[in-house]
Amino acid sequence: MKILMVCLGNICRSPLAEGILRQKVAEAGLNWTIDSAGTNGYHVGEAPHPLSQKVARMNGIDISGQRARNFVAADFDRFDRIYAMATDVLAEMRRIARNNYDPPKAMLLLDAIYPGEERDVPDPWYGPEPGYHEVFDLINKACATIIEQSTITF
Ligand code: 4NP
Repeated sequence: MKILMVCLGNICRSPLAEGILRQKVAEAGLNWTIDSAGTNGYHVGEAPHPLSQKVARMNGIDISGQRARNFVAADFDRFDRIYAMATDVLAEMRRIARNNYDPPKAMLLLDAIYPGEERDVPDPWYGPEPGYHEVFDLINKACATIIEQSTITF
């Protein structure tokens, strides 16, 4: 499985999602490829936000080596499943999609734990540290469920 995590800037939410899922995949002994990207391109080349790095580190995950990149149409070819952190991100990914085969690969991450509720991982960008912990916990739960369900779903 090749899985891509996508948010707006690729500096707050999706770098955490990449780091969290990569760690769970390693713990489960799965041979999956995990990456992340952003739809708005404002922070391309930057390391994850310091508070995302801090919260990851507090949970034993090092995301400091990641660098932000843009989500591109070719990602639909390179990945089997593409998780959007929020509905605005999913809408932009569907706008970038080129054909009927692309959109089914794109889905909301929180559908894994709140199916059909169209819930967003809240954008922590403008807020203080507690928002980053909330984001970590939500993504952590969703990724745990994705791993648990992987034998059925994939
Ligand atoms: P992210 O957070 O999508 O979780 O990486 C954001 C980071 C930067 C901006 C928006 C959201 N921005 O507009 O610069």
